[in-house]
Amino acid sequence: MRVLPPTDTSVAFAAEAIRRGELVAMPTETVYGVAANAFDPDAVRRIYALKGRPADNPMIVHIARIDELDGLAREFPEAARVLAERFWPGPLTMVLHKAPNVPSEVTAGLDTIAVRMPRHPVALQLILAAGVPLAAPSANRFTRLSPTGPEHIDDELRAGLACVLDGGRSPVGLESTVIDMTVWPPLILRPGGVSRGDIQAALGVPLGQIPSEKLRRSPGMYPRHYAPRARVVLVDRIENGYPGLVFGTPAGPQQIRMPNDSTAYASALYDALHRLDRERPLEIYVERPVGGPEWEAVLDRLQKASA
Ligand code: TXA
Ligand code: MG
Repeated sequence: MRVLPPTDTSVAFAAEAIRRGELVAMPTETVYGVAANAFDPDAVRRIYALKGRPADNPMIVHIARIDELDGLAREFPEAARVLAERFWPGPLTMVLHKAPNVPSEVTAGLDTIAVRMPRHPVALQLILAAGVPLAAPSANRFTRLSPTGPEHIDDELRAGLACVLDGGRSPVGLESTVIDMTVWPPLILRPGGVSRGDIQAALGVPLGQIPSEKLRRSPGMYPRHYAPRARVVLVDRIENGYPGLVFGTPAGPQQIRMPNDSTAYASALYDALHRLDRERPLEIYVERPVGGPEWEAVLDRLQKASA
């Protein structure tokens, strides 16, 4: 397994591996994903095995051109068109009614499919070169932290890959927003890279709230998820030199100063947790950000990491 620079040759090599049914780690603007041909059920099954992911946890399918939707979704409602126009390529995943030919492995047996057009140029190049949509969950073992750089992808996972395409640091830094477009008003299943406010502004309607019976439809909503090995403890202020994420001046080498802006914080969060976790502390303390609705996705991940 090799980490390859993002050249045309590397992308061609990775695309060829995907066409042979192998798995490739690809950069996206949110986090790195493990990608396979979405129309190859064996390859998709190998993603579940490699991640230790439960078979009832569906995957996001990544496209590079809007016409690829034809083979994936049964219909593309007007509201979804509006969001695609506004936010694609970008960190928004839309849940749509699935087309019949999509392997049930991808959607975990659901009659819906999650689709997104990523903004990272290397991801777009890879999808185009492979000539197929790519099923790609985040490139981490189940419940662990998503990688935002090649060095965050652990050895166990690497062992199952043809290569890792190095696209540098993922700038958004946490996963895409997942929104269910099969209901009205649409429902955010996982807050992420596109804010609730921006989606509401684009659609001109308030988004729905999650009814409890829907919670299990998006396993990103399981209590413990997105977690480092260490126990994450959310606090108002870290009192001494304990390892953690702080807003003020760090009290030692085990503390990382985080930005006050929510976008910059999101971008830095997983890398900071990965770096602290490497020292194998028992606990990582995180100073709770206090702020408005723009912190929704960050607070969601911190709550899940500390559950
Ligand atoms: O930013 C991202 O979304 C990254 C990059 C690689 O694109 N991918 C990612 O994939 O986070 P994953 O597998 O870690 O999370 C996919 C989320 C899960 O919460 C899953 O339950 C939800 O999308 N999902 C997928 N298909 C769904 C469906 N048909 N209905 C509801 N939720 C779905
Ligand atoms: Mg994930």
